[in-house]
Amino acid sequence: MVLGVETSCDETAASVIADGTEVVSNVVGSQIDLHARYGGVVPEIASRRHLEMLDGVVAEALERAGIQEADLDGIAVTCRPGLIGALVVGLVGAKAYAWAWDKPLMGVHHIQAHVFGGRLADADLAPPFVALVASGGHSDLLLVRDWLDPRLIGETRDDAAGEAFDKVARHLDLGYPGGPAIQKAAENATRPIDLPIADLGESLDFSFSGLKTAVVRLTEKMGEDETRIRAPDIAAGFQAAVTTPLARKTIEACRRHHVQRVVVGGGVAANSELRRRLTEGCAAAGLDLTLTPLKYCTDNAAMVGALGCERLARGDVDDLSLDVDSTAPLPRL
Ligand code: KG4
Ligand code: ZN
Repeated sequence: MVLGVETSCDETAASVIADGTEVVSNVVGSQIDLHARYGGVVPEIASRRHLEMLDGVVAEALERAGIQEADLDGIAVTCRPGLIGALVVGLVGAKAYAWAWDKPLMGVHHIQAHVFGGRLADADLAPPFVALVASGGHSDLLLVRDWLDPRLIGETRDDAAGEAFDKVARHLDLGYPGGPAIQKAAENATRPIDLPIADLGESLDFSFSGLKTAVVRLTEKMGEDETRIRAPDIAAGFQAAVTTPLARKTIEACRRHHVQRVVVGGGVAANSELRRRLTEGCAAAGLDLTLTPLKYCTDNAAMVGALGCERLARGDVDDLSLDVDSTAPLPRL
């Protein structure tokens, strides 16, 4: 039984995972309300709130699991990449628990943890597969031949997909976080507006900043009133222009690397349009698809605990000299 702890951005989360895949408890303390009025995450506010919430969230995860700290076999914590102050709070807290309760500590890479969202959908899921992790900070295509050694085969060259959702939602005054707001607005579209897709030729990389600029230009041309009226059509066009290359290149990556399965995770994996495109695209290409369950797409500690279980099972643990790393790029293939 492993306790997972996640504080890399704006959720203070703790979870107890049994046998690698069974979510015994999952507590997510969201800070969305706190950051909404600024239209994005304010790092200093996030760190302070993590500090206030961590102990309570961990206690609640143990209580809901019906266990004592002595029942744990280890503690896994996100220590890279993320907001530096936010990571420090989680790591220092987890080190303190590990020391006080005399348990092994496992420091976890946040993007690798999102890949384990797939394992929470399917306990038997096994490599090889291509993983798409699309979140507020990353849009990564990974070739996973070993659960603990994912290799980067494509990434965004500018904005992450979730970041683009957040920026465009803010520009259209649709609210924060932008992903769910755009998805909701797009449901009311009647005439979706075509927006440019950055294709980047043969590359498996993505680019979303040109799309954001195209939205800004379009709204400048439309003016305030028309922009407000056509916001659903702009949102639908934007959503199509982000999800089309994400789905297409994920499927293309499988073809190039002779892999039969796709795994999708990260906050943007909650997007219904992306899920639909991947479902249809994988079916057409004869590929198997594992979608992270909706509740484990956005940040949570269950995925962190699941990764921790895998490391613990291999005897792969860290000592208390473990440090945070705010960038921590994954290795290329
Ligand atoms: O994985 P995550 O919770 O945090 C990071 O690791 O960054 O991802 C958060 C991102 C935000 O940018 C948010 O707007 C986006 O995921 N997101 C969505 C949806 N739900 C969350 N994007 C598109 N559609 C959604 N339904
Ligand atoms: Zn994340």
